[in-house]
Amino acid sequence: MTGRLRLGVNIDHVATIRNARGGAHPDPLRAALAAAAAGADGITAHLREDRRHITDRDIDRLMEIDLPLNLEMAATEEMLAIALAHRPHAVCLVPEKREERTTEGGLDAARQHNHLAPYLRELERAGIRASLFIEPSERQVEAALRLKAPVVEFHVGRYAHLEGDEQVIELKRIADMAALAAKNGIEPHAGHGLTFDNVAPIAAIPQLAELNIGHFLVGEAIFTGLEASVRRMRTLMDAAR
Ligand code: PXP
Repeated sequence: MTGRLRLGVNIDHVATIRNARGGAHPDPLRAALAAAAAGADGITAHLREDRRHITDRDIDRLMEIDLPLNLEMAATEEMLAIALAHRPHAVCLVPEKREERTTEGGLDAARQHNHLAPYLRELERAGIRASLFIEPSERQVEAALRLKAPVVEFHVGRYAHLEGDEQVIELKRIADMAALAAKNGIEPHAGHGLTFDNVAPIAAIPQLAELNIGHFLVGEAIFTGLEASVRRMRTLMDAAR
């Protein structure tokens, strides 16, 4: 049976707009509460090394409200210390390059096994559910399995940018990898580049347990307000199941 698909709302770009003027408005915490009121199951925030959007203070404040926080971060010593100090509900390990505009690809879990294995164990010991943000490929799912990761999040940015037959092929790849992960006891999630127009086929993949969506929802909020934008996404996700 297909269970309810959780929606994690990524509020990074509320902080991007706030930081453009260096003040306190718009407040990511207020956005988190509005998203939850509209049907988000949790909040996702990426604390980047350069703190270009979400700041340490934002994480402090997000930990004070009664909403599960999925902290996206690079697998560095600095971020491990922050995660262990805060103990968020979940951590999603992402690759990070200083010069990139956004997270451009998945983590190479296969190549980074020796670095990630002890890192994941530390998070596990602290009771933090860790996921690996990976490409939907067999090589990466198998690497996640060797790492005993409880969760993987598939980077669906390629799907989001393709069209026509190419998009159909990519969708099948994501569905196959979600099935492979689930068959092996890993909970699959997906995120990156999802919009009202492209979310339904992804939401229909029965093994996916969670979608993390940010940029589009915050952009759409300019026209309709954040609550309406989250509510519509929630409706489209539910209708696809
Ligand atoms: N999931 C992960 C791991 C991400 O890094 C991002 C982007 O920060 C998202 C989901 C959300 O992507 P988007 O902002 O394109 O919806």
